Order: sequence, then structure tokens, then C-alpha cells
Amino acid sequence: MKRSTSDRLYEEAKQYLPGGVNSPVRAFRSVNGAPIFFEKGKGSQVWDADGNQYTDFCCSWGPLILGHANDQVLSDVSEVMMNGTSFGAPSKYESELARLIVENHRFIEKIRFVNSGTEAAMSAIRLARGYTGKNKVVKFEGCYHGHVDSLMVKAGSGLATLGTSTSAGIPESYVKETIVLPLNNEDAVNEAIEKYGDDIACIAIEPIPANNGLLLQDKNFLQFLRKRCDETGILLFFDEVISGFRVSFEGAAGYYGIKPDMIAFGKIIGGGFPVGAYGASSKVMDHIAPDGPVYQAGTLSGNPVAMAAGIAQLKQCLKPGFYDALEAKTKRMVERVQAVADEKGWPFHMFHVGSIFWMSFSNKNKVQRSDEIDPNSSERFKVFFDDMLAQGMYVGPSSYEVGFVSYAHTEEELARAAEAMIHALDRAYAQ
Ligand SMILES: Cc1ncc(COP(=O)(O)O)c(C=O)c1O
Repeated sequence: MKRSTSDRLYEEAKQYLPGGVNSPVRAFRSVNGAPIFFEKGKGSQVWDADGNQYTDFCCSWGPLILGHANDQVLSDVSEVMMNGTSFGAPSKYESELARLIVENHRFIEKIRFVNSGTEAAMSAIRLARGYTGKNKVVKFEGCYHGHVDSLMVKAGSGLATLGTSTSAGIPESYVKETIVLPLNNEDAVNEAIEKYGDDIACIAIEPIPANNGLLLQDKNFLQFLRKRCDETGILLFFDEVISGFRVSFEGAAGYYGIKPDMIAFGKIIGGGFPVGAYGASSKVMDHIAPDGPVYQAGTLSGNPVAMAAGIAQLKQCLKPGFYDALEAKTKRMVERVQAVADEKGWPFHMFHVGSIFWMSFSNKNKVQRSDEIDPNSSERFKVFFDDMLAQGMYVGPSSYEVGFVSYAHTEEELARAAEAMIHALDRAYAQ
């Protein structure tokens, strides 16, 4: 496989960009070799700078639920942008996207658009604090909420301890209001509420944790969080940056039938453009400026181009049967791979929900906390990843990353991908 153009572009990028990239995982540090530079995408297919073609299961880390360069998205965006790209003043597209969401989502009455998932999570946390007048935030180890200072935290030692920061540049004082708990553990939540309950603004969780593998939680656990929040007045905050509009139009909240008090969105909501959002009941949202005292603003927030992309994408997601079809074809691919893995006796489990999948290189068929992931998996994953590339299949370059199937992936492509995965697993387990 020719990689010389990508290699040259990487050498150049390293001169001007830290690590040659604008987001760390793109640097391919968890796999062998240098990053691939992409040039073109259409539907399920992408082409790199050397002309290699791949079936894409990264889909820009989730936003591209319709695949690359969807015709409707492109045509609506082009039409809107011919009239200007941003005014720093309202345009009708903001309410159009907001209406589309509010009318089709039981748990959102008002929504505020921002420019990324990080911004959405950060602003939602501020709103939770401003609304409740409380300071502490509960988060779970293994859940990612963007690079927000107070949420870049890992657990201290022991249950219900305050967190310690996971990045240089974040003073410990910034994270001292964050309580980090293990996922799927009711006792830990009870203990934290007992200890700090009077000062907890919200419990933040990825209801489908998909940033450290796919740590599918028991529905009971999510229901338990709802119950404890109801009992204590703590807000339940679902970070649905990945799961929103992905596992159903109403995201994980709709999938599990659990009403959160606040939701953060990102990725799919922007149709491939940089959009995030947070939403809640009017009662909560009316605390945001200019109606309320919680300040939050954005120069390019709600710009017409990004809104048009979001509208064009979400309208297609609302077509009857959209999510069932996506889930069914993903399941067929996963089941084929799992059946062969079981037959061969490989210690392997492929988790999936909706059109999200994750390969765990261990035979545990339940992995619900990040410390249950076998750290040695990454060696097998490297072999798997290289063999997939050689077969024209692109998955995210890390064993901790999930894969995404888009509406554009055909049954034939997925059947081919399943055989490619089996081939790559065969190599990985031959080591
Ligand atoms: C659950 C979750 N929250 C927040 C974020 C941050 O979103 P962004 O990368 O758009 O800032 C991500 C990104 O992957 C995410 O998966």
C-alpha cells in the first residue's frame, strides 16, 4: 500500500502543527505508522492522498450518519452559503433546526446551539450550577465530555473521592468540585450523594459510554440515576454527543425511555459541520442569558451554513424506519464476525448498540467499566488495524475507539467488511 504522499504531508504538518494534527488521536500514536491524510469521501467510501480507497467505519468519529458528502446536505449548504456564511445576528435556520428537534424529541423544550460537543458539555454544566445554585458535579470514570477543564478528571483513590486532573495545565482547584465515580455502581452513587448531596448540581453521564470502548450500562443503573436525582433535586445530565440522533432520533434517552433533565448534543446535529447544542425544559433553559443569569455566547453559534447542514441531515434521520434499518444491518455484520470468532475460539467480543460497534479483544461478554478493558488488547488491535487498512477498510486508529455504520453503507459493503474483519482477526490471533 502506497503511503508516500501521506508521509510527506505528515512531515510538513509536523513543522506547523503540534504533533502534525489538530486533535491527538489523529496522529496514529496507538497504532503503527504515521497518519493517513484523506482527500475525498463519498457515501461509505474515503480516498487518501495516495489514492487508496477505504470503506470508512470512523465516519469523522460519528457525525456522518448519512455517510460522506450526502447530496442533500451539500446542496442545501451550498444554497444557503451563497447568501453569506454568518451574520452574528439571528437567521431563520436556527429556529428551523431547533423546531425540528423539539418537535421530535420528548425531553427537550428549548435548545441553545454552540460550536462543539465540548462547548455543549461545558455550558450545560454551567447551567446546571446556575440553575441549582450548587457547585459539585458527579461524573463517571470512562466517560468523556470533551476537554472541559473541570471534566478532565480521573477518580481519586477510593469511592466518592474528589477527582484529580488528567491533563497538564488544569489546576487541581479547578477539579475539586468534580466527583468521579465508577460506572454501573449504585453504591458509589449513594455514597457520593450521602457525602456531598447538598452541594451536587448534576450527575453527568454518557448514557451510552462510547469513548473508552463501548461500556454498555445496565438500563437499571440509568433508571436508578433518574430515581436518585428525583429524590434529591440533582439534575440528570445526559451527554449525548455520540448517542444523540445515533441510536434513535431521541438518542439514548429515547432508546432507554429515560428522561434526563439536560442533554448535550454534538456530532450528528451539525451534518458534518462544527455544531454542538444543549437542551432541557424551558424552566431550566430560561436561566440562560439573555433571559437568565447564566452567561453563554458564541460569535459563530447557530450560523446559517452549519444550521442548514444539520437540518438537511436530521430530516433524513426522521424518515420512517431509518434507525431500524441502520441497527439491523449493523447487527448482521457484528453477528457474522462474532459467530466466526466463537467458532475459532478467539477471546473476542464485538459489542454493539444501534449503529455503534466496538471490538473487545477479550472474551468477557460484559465490559461496563474502563478498568475492565484488557490493556493488552492494543497489541492485537495494531495487527488488526494494519490488516484492515491493507484490505481497504478504515476504522478509528485506537483499540478504545468505537466504529460507526452510516446509512450509506450497503449490505454488500458490510458483508465484505465482516469478512475483512474476520481476516484481520485471524492475523491478530495468530500472533
Ligand atoms: C460524549 C462526548 N462528549 C463530548 C465530546 C466533545 O465533543 P467535541 O469533540 O465536538 O468537542 C465528545 C467527543 O468525542 C464526546 O464523545
